[in-house]
Amino acid sequence: MAAHEKFSFKSLAELQERIATLGVDVSLSCDLAALHRPVKVGQLIAPNSIAVLPMEGCDSEPDGSPSELVERRYLRFAGGGAGLLWWEANAVVPEGRANPLQMMMTEANVDRFAALLVKTNAAAAAAMGADHRPVNVLQLTHSGRYSSSPAHTAAPLIPQHDPILDPRVGVKREDPVVSDEYLDGLVEKYVASALLAKKAGFDGVDIKACHRYLLSELLASHTREGKYGGSFENRSRLLLDIISAVRAAVGEDFIVACRFNVFDAHPYPYGFGSAKDDMWTFDETEPLRLVELMIERGANLLSNSGGNPYYIYPQVTRPFDLSSTGIPVPDEHQLESIERLFSFTKKIQKVAGDVPVVGNGYSWLRQFQGHAGAANIEAGNCAFMGLGRSSFAYPDAPKDLLTKGEMDTKKVCIACSKCTQIMRDHGRTGCVVRDAKIYGPLYKEYRAAAEERALSANK
Ligand SMILES: Cc1cc2nc3c(=O)[nH]c(=O)nc-3n(C[C@H](O)[C@H](O)[C@H](O)COP(=O)(O)O)c2cc1C
Ligand code: SF4
Repeated sequence: MAAHEKFSFKSLAELQERIATLGVDVSLSCDLAALHRPVKVGQLIAPNSIAVLPMEGCDSEPDGSPSELVERRYLRFAGGGAGLLWWEANAVVPEGRANPLQMMMTEANVDRFAALLVKTNAAAAAAMGADHRPVNVLQLTHSGRYSSSPAHTAAPLIPQHDPILDPRVGVKREDPVVSDEYLDGLVEKYVASALLAKKAGFDGVDIKACHRYLLSELLASHTREGKYGGSFENRSRLLLDIISAVRAAVGEDFIVACRFNVFDAHPYPYGFGSAKDDMWTFDETEPLRLVELMIERGANLLSNSGGNPYYIYPQVTRPFDLSSTGIPVPDEHQLESIERLFSFTKKIQKVAGDVPVVGNGYSWLRQFQGHAGAANIEAGNCAFMGLGRSSFAYPDAPKDLLTKGEMDTKKVCIACSKCTQIMRDHGRTGCVVRDAKIYGPLYKEYRAAAEERALSANK
């Protein structure tokens, strides 16, 4: 492992030199043509190979409907010209919300989502031409261990006990795990949310199973008893049953996606995709089998992720330069973290065949992210380059890459973790650096409030 290093590369050649010195498998292409490729997703065609990854702002209305800030975010994303908009986490049940302002579509507010989709599709067409219509997929979630109460206090619903993670969310040894009956009942909740999403005009839904939320942690629930724990068949049962049920309910002309953790970087028997004797070694057996099973059940769009953004190794999910509070400096170079994410995508895409996979881990590469995306798409390692923090900082990046062939260095995400910090401080988030007018003051306000809370807790 090489030392963590702040990004300072001024040219593609400089970055290429560091990649060579480190010996990491990260390719950069000078030719960005691959980003223009239309991609078949289910029965639809995304107009190019750039995707906006799900990026939640924790800023919906209390009833889960889009607020002004949500509308602003998606108009910016859509106007940025990406071929696929993967909309952020939307809770399927109120007790599964990660924060009191998490998106949550219901019968009562579905029309507000429908109206927003009309506006975002119009914004995309206005920016990229009348024929440009992005594919819109909504992420459906249950936050499990990271669920919160309406007062923003932890209200964890855990599928298994975990001696490392339990104390961090106040779970005691004697607290119960969620029952099989509760989990059985979630199938119809996902189906109901998927049908609402279809009614609103989305093109598909994602059955989210990443970042150690409920379905992600279930995949790792080796110590759970009963039909949802222990064997791989049991641990993957709920995810696969939900995919089957949603596919049956929505029909063949709707996308059923899954964004899932291929690697938790968490020790056995509490992690998924980590080798039994070393949590940092990837064991591909179960993740790759899961890909085959999800596709058999009807999934037709995938995105891999990894790690647990709430724990001390967020670099597994999002390589960064500066960390949020309580996060140690990683003992690996960001390019090594990126290599890991790219290697997962490549393996998943190989098994997925014609089913497109959205790759991630690009934002740290700044103005060179398109070069990495084009190289991966060209090599068949993924169908889409997915942009997370980059989309907060620089929503027009896809348009600039597609029309100018370059990105503006003054607009790129600098991987400072301030948007994550706002989330941890219970605030409404966005880019503190590049969208500073709105998020600069919010960042300061939430930091001060969080410090105040910490002080009173220690009194
Ligand atoms: C503020 C913030 C919000 C996020 N929200 C979501 C989300 O709703 N769903 C999800 O799957 N990932 C979410 N992510 C993870 C991103 O989609 C992405 O995987 C990660 O940031 C790595 O990509 P990047 O390097 O391009 O940022 C979020 C990340 C951040 C920093
Ligand atoms: S606050 Fe802005 S610059 Fe910093 S990591 Fe988030 S998106 Fe990137």
